[in-house]
Amino acid sequence: MDRGLVAVIGGTGMNQWPGLEIEQRLEIETPYGLPSAALLDGRVYGTRAIFLARHGEGHKIPPHCINYRANLWALREAGVKQVVAIAAVGGIAPWFAPGDIAVPADLIDYTWGRAHTYSDGGAGAELHHVEFTEPYAPGLRRRLIAAADASSTPLAGEGVLAVTQGPRLETVAEIRRLAQDGCDMVGMTGMPEAALARELGLDYACLAVSVNWAAGVQGLGDIHAEIAQSIESGMAKVRAVLQQALP
Ligand code: HPA
Repeated sequence: MDRGLVAVIGGTGMNQWPGLEIEQRLEIETPYGLPSAALLDGRVYGTRAIFLARHGEGHKIPPHCINYRANLWALREAGVKQVVAIAAVGGIAPWFAPGDIAVPADLIDYTWGRAHTYSDGGAGAELHHVEFTEPYAPGLRRRLIAAADASSTPLAGEGVLAVTQGPRLETVAEIRRLAQDGCDMVGMTGMPEAALARELGLDYACLAVSVNWAAGVQGLGDIHAEIAQSIESGMAKVRAVLQQALP
């Protein structure tokens, strides 16, 4: 079955994709400006795929300054149909410990002030109220979950992703509020990325990697030390799932 060209958007801990044999670098200018980096078009595990470093090649672009509109637009220009977003997050739910991975089923957007839609009233822009009942493409989510199973990579769960503005981490009270809202994990880049993909008709799903306990969830630990300790084991799981999911 031809599922269409897949792109992986890598974030913190996955600024490049080891194993991707790069065949060409696509520098794509969009009506919204330049994407975070050149799209790396190549082969991974024998399958053509595209990689985009969300924070730029030197990992310098903070979450609220990422040109999400240009990123998704450029991927569509390159012929991408499906996007797997890798997101380093803080675990809120007790089941989502540092080093674990999950395929979130839903999200809550707490970001503000980001260029979050193509329906911006600009010349030629049409008004679309895209449906977002299920923000992640069910078929692509199922494929990631099945790939985790087939590669014997433990998946901690599904859950709800809170997307905060950053770049600072949260306070204990903020995390308590997110937990009360029903959020299981918290990251800074999941929106408007997911909504823009939907506006462009791209299938989009997220592989979330817990890299720390969110503020106050397990006492007052050193979050940066936790991240340094857990990020590599989490990203190894991501690579195992991608290897199974892609061909
Ligand atoms: N909060 C928000 N974003 C994050 C975190 C966190 O604790 N960890 C990694 N990204």
